Amino acid sequence: MLKDHRIVLIVTGGIAVYKACTLVRGLVKAGAQVRVVMTEHAAQFVAPLTFETLSGHPVALTEWPRGPESPMPHIDLNRDADLLVVCPATANILAKAAHGIADDLASTLIAARRAPIVFVPAMNVHMWRSSAAQRNVEVLKEAGARFIGPAEGFQACGDVGAGRMTEPEAVLDRLMGFFAPKTLEGRRVLVTAGPTYEALDPVRGITNRSSGRQGYAVARAARDAGAEVTLVSGPTALRAPEGVRLVSVESAGEMLRAVEDALAEAPCDLFFSTAAVADWRPDSVPVLKMKKREGEPSPFEAVRWTENPDILRTVSARKDRPYAVGFAAETASGADLLELARAKRARKGCDLIVANDARRALDRSENAVRILGEDVDRSFGPADKDACARFIVEAAAQELKKKEMP
Ligand SMILES: Cc1cc2nc3c(=O)[nH]c(=O)nc-3n(C[C@H](O)[C@H](O)[C@H](O)COP(=O)(O)O)c2cc1C
Repeated sequence: MLKDHRIVLIVTGGIAVYKACTLVRGLVKAGAQVRVVMTEHAAQFVAPLTFETLSGHPVALTEWPRGPESPMPHIDLNRDADLLVVCPATANILAKAAHGIADDLASTLIAARRAPIVFVPAMNVHMWRSSAAQRNVEVLKEAGARFIGPAEGFQACGDVGAGRMTEPEAVLDRLMGFFAPKTLEGRRVLVTAGPTYEALDPVRGITNRSSGRQGYAVARAARDAGAEVTLVSGPTALRAPEGVRLVSVESAGEMLRAVEDALAEAPCDLFFSTAAVADWRPDSVPVLKMKKREGEPSPFEAVRWTENPDILRTVSARKDRPYAVGFAAETASGADLLELARAKRARKGCDLIVANDARRALDRSENAVRILGEDVDRSFGPADKDACARFIVEAAAQELKKKEMP
């Protein structure tokens, strides 16, 4: 997604400068061309040589170069940039950028910018909460600047609270989607993902092999397309995508409640039912662990089962139903898979169904999908789940738009 995009990374003087090194590596690996600019104070924390080596280009440090470099770096760097990223962004650079102060290369570059700009703030919690910093952030947002973070947690100075730099992997994840077409701008999207877990007793339960990767990728792709995304997730080992509201649940019942709560909060335009939801749950769950007893049959043989609520069908039957996309992961392929998927779409009453072979999708990083609808039949893959997610989200956005047309 960043291949050949030209990014100017402005590094300012905070303790989080070391995290920007990881970001440069990630950007370069993703195919971006990165030029690093450092303030005098940033260079106190990490030597420019580190950034020079990681980016493969000299680091710009001053507006007054004495060597053969460009005589006007603040103009030339801007001329070539698709995106400016200020990471970490100090309280100082936020203040200067908000007021048009241009007294070093970093701030002059920002003052003369033409490309979009993203700030990744990192500072002490009291600095971040100060009315001056908050005012500056508002001014910059009004002028169109984007912000990633800050996160909350333990700080290098010993304080705890908001102001920590968002981890570089999460910053990279957001930047990866920066240039995605904004086909869902202003839309609300609800995604379910991962497996569900139905308790058998206090220590055991039944679940499935869904890793949640496809659903998380759908949530990220919808976010990158400009949507406000809520992700209702069963237990997974995945990190919550930055900029997505995550609601964590365990059982199918909890998942349905979380979905209905999200829909009650505000109507939603698109619903992706990506989760692998258990069809059945035990009638009742004993308070104590079931024990193996010599000479007796397994206590699990006595478990009675109740059907779980059908989340996709419930949402598809609502009066205020969003455009609903179901997923059919079956242990079938070819014509059998298509038949099962078409039947599932009819049973659930959803608009689109994404058919995939469970044996090739569950707990894997790749997938191959076929999207079926009333007059839709589109295939994609095999490809990584992020690429599949972008295809699915794009197809759903197009179909939703078609459906809304008079
Ligand atoms: C050890 C140390 C750590 C600092 N960490 C931060 C920080 O995380 N965030 C911040 O806004 N300022 C931090 N500062 C203060 C800035 O370095 C100072 O405001 C400086 O003028 C910023 O300059 P610059 O924005 O031009 O890089 C720190 C200072 C020191 C000495």
